[in-house]
Amino acid sequence: MLTDTKTVQSLLDKVAGHDNDAGDPRMKAIVRRATADLFRLIEEFDIQPDEFWAAMGYLTRLGQSGEVGLLVPGLGLETFLDLRMDQAEAKAGIEGGTPRTIEGPLYVAGAPLSRGEARLDDGTEQGEVLFMEGQVRDVNGKPVAGAVVDVWHANTLGGYSFFDPSQAKYNLRRRIEADAEGRYRFRTLLPSGYACPPDGPTQLLLDHLGRHGHRPAHIHFFVTAPGYRKLTTQINIDGDDYLHDDFAFATRDGLIPAVRRNADPAAIHARGLNAPFAEIGFDFVLHAETATAPRTVVTRAHAEAA
Ligand SMILES: [Fe+2]
Repeated sequence: MLTDTKTVQSLLDKVAGHDNDAGDPRMKAIVRRATADLFRLIEEFDIQPDEFWAAMGYLTRLGQSGEVGLLVPGLGLETFLDLRMDQAEAKAGIEGGTPRTIEGPLYVAGAPLSRGEARLDDGTEQGEVLFMEGQVRDVNGKPVAGAVVDVWHANTLGGYSFFDPSQAKYNLRRRIEADAEGRYRFRTLLPSGYACPPDGPTQLLLDHLGRHGHRPAHIHFFVTAPGYRKLTTQINIDGDDYLHDDFAFATRDGLIPAVRRNADPAAIHARGLNAPFAEIGFDFVLHAETATAPRTVVTRAHAEAA
């Protein structure tokens, strides 16, 4: 193959800066490997210049559209990072606990913090009211007092505040500090699933793969507490058509709690409502922090609501 010739191998060495002593050795090794793999891919698939430049144009548009964080889970890369963390934890003897799943691109830092309970919706939207509650515990069943449950989800149209400018600041986003028994609870509206923007570059690639860009309805969480490994996860709303067909591959066993429908008039009245409502109980089980597995705190650019 052309890629294996001395000329091309020497070109790859120069590309990666292997002929100098400056720079970052790890970066050099990764760039050497990535460019060599790309050269080989171009050669093996006999990729023509028109196809190559179409791909470069695609990457440019992908960056400009702000959809990098959407394509990444769509290609399974975010799930692969989770599987690697699962593997590293298993190797360190860390088993059980609430399964992790992907963060996705729509977290906004700095949501309002409340103690024990919160209402997530601002009351402007009609929908099925959801009460969710549970306990944060460690793997031995001990409550984790003061754990912070950072929750965010879409509205009934599948839109997220901040990214959807029609919603109020931090709508459907809260941080809830669990009480002395590790308990949290919140009131909100059942979210809807959503899909990639139909005209965006992520959906364009999915079309070429014969795939849809839908996500089932879900609620995102970060659960943190001093001395414990940060948990990034989601729960799915049972019954969604896409429950086991998520374009972002985030559905996992153990993350599909039952949704109870409560139509008891006395319960409706007691909650100050005038229609049946939904209830979900879900406990979060955290692992103690350890030096034997990589940290689960991920440094990643997040939007911050102005
Ligand atoms: Fe989401």
